[in-house]
Amino acid sequence: MAEKSFKYVIVGGGVAAGYAAREFAKQGVKPGELAVISKEAVAPYERPALSKAYLFPEGTARLPGFHVCVGSGGERLLPEWYAEKGISLILSTEIVKADLSSKTLASAAGETFKYQILIIATGSTVIKLSDFGVQGADAKNIFYLREIDDADKLVEAIKAKKNLKAVVVGGGYIGLELSAALRVNNIDATMVYPEPWCMPRLFTAGIAAFYEGYYANKGVKIIKGTVAVGFGTNENGEVTDVKLKDGRVLEADIVVVGVGGKPLATLFKGQVEEEKGGIKTDAFFKTSVPDVYAVGDVATFPLKLYGELRRVEHVDHARKSAEQAVKAIFASEQGKSVDEYDYLPFFYSRAFDLSWQFYGDNVGETVLFGDSSPTSTTHKFGSYWIKDGKVVGAFLESGQDLLCFLGNKVILLDDFYIVCREESNGLILSFWVF
Ligand code: FDA
Ligand code: NAD
Repeated sequence: MAEKSFKYVIVGGGVAAGYAAREFAKQGVKPGELAVISKEAVAPYERPALSKAYLFPEGTARLPGFHVCVGSGGERLLPEWYAEKGISLILSTEIVKADLSSKTLASAAGETFKYQILIIATGSTVIKLSDFGVQGADAKNIFYLREIDDADKLVEAIKAKKNLKAVVVGGGYIGLELSAALRVNNIDATMVYPEPWCMPRLFTAGIAAFYEGYYANKGVKIIKGTVAVGFGTNENGEVTDVKLKDGRVLEADIVVVGVGGKPLATLFKGQVEEEKGGIKTDAFFKTSVPDVYAVGDVATFPLKLYGELRRVEHVDHARKSAEQAVKAIFASEQGKSVDEYDYLPFFYSRAFDLSWQFYGDNVGETVLFGDSSPTSTTHKFGSYWIKDGKVVGAFLESGQDLLCFLGNKVILLDDFYIVCREESNGLILSFWVF
């Protein structure tokens, strides 16, 4: 098969790839110079839509509605946009071999791609229960959610039968967003997770108490402190029940699993330096291999604010890291430089009519404020994290604007004002919340 050659290749066609392509266009990439190679069949889109409006029975989101860059209020990049810019959008093409020394990629179908500069934007994949040898974990109607094909299969199952019973395994992002989406579809939903409260990687017990109460009021049943250890199946190989470690057995027509993600770095194993499970980069997303960059979920980069290497699995960083890498590539070609990536982590989630946002780091002491009663019709609350006398993280549910100057004096959380008076040594003397 013929070999194709490009100046720049992006492997992966998700959020980071889409935002990188836009930045390439802004920087004046010439027709024929850039290729985006994706195993998905569609142009880059805003992945967060898959666990939200994509699953709703009304106001349903469908492509081309949520191609990048609409999620950040930007232009929607349809396949025609890539064609107009002379960017080769090579879809339904999985790269199965990468040889960084000869700058060559090979696809599952046997094509060869050469590049001068490579951007790795392969994102994450789901951790599967079959990875832990959970019995019956590959039964039919057990779903994971990462790509649009996964969402389509779930939508089909939701529509196939009435009065479905669903079990959601995992109490993190997927668990919380999917159990809400299932309830919105009027499906009987039970969430199961091992921790004492949901989303322990971010929520405090106080924050989680609101969501657990709110979900219970919406009819989501919650079982904590145990895990799924097996699945029963019928003669068609379809899941019928979920066996829990504590001995309980839950009936299930469908199961949605969200037990975490892992970065997709396997193609490059042994060829590039890794750190914390991801591909190690500098502040310009350059890897240890010349002319190879890594962005989005797969990159472990220096988080300047905290003075350590981190991986961030959220959409805001996917967008910004991609833009930073492309700016750095063009600057270095012109013998110039760009500022180091100085990222303030930002995550958000939406489920039911709830919406939260978080900035910073969730370490240290926490203070919960506002109305966090799950039964209140006027609920609106937040939390902030304090470490070494400084506000390092801020969370807000049901507000509009969360403006943070972490490490500075004032954080404005919608109509809550937290005033932190700082001494010259950085210690906060007092707070007022009003
Ligand atoms: P992303 O996963 O977007 O893209 C990777 C791409 O690479 C995919 O197209 C994949 O097919 C392709 N690929 C992988 N290996 C390949 C290979 N070998 N050959 C070719 N192509 C290959 N974040 C947030 O802040 N708020 C939110 O509400 C949500 N919601 C949300 C919902 C769901 C369902 C998921 C799965 C994730 C979120 N996220 C989120 C997280 C956010 O979507 C995520 O951090 C970004 O999509 C990461 O962008 P990347 O481009 O790094 O990976
Ligand atoms: P997660 O890490 O948020 O949550 C995993 C949950 O599963 C945890 O509560 C964990 O303890 C639990 N768990 C682990 N093993 C289990 C077991 N055997 N049985 C039951 N529960 C178990 O991961 P996720 O929710 O799967 O999300 C996957 C990826 O998608 C992440 O990268 C996440 O950042 C991303 N995502 C983000 C958003 C968002 O930012 N709003 C939304 C959806 C997905």
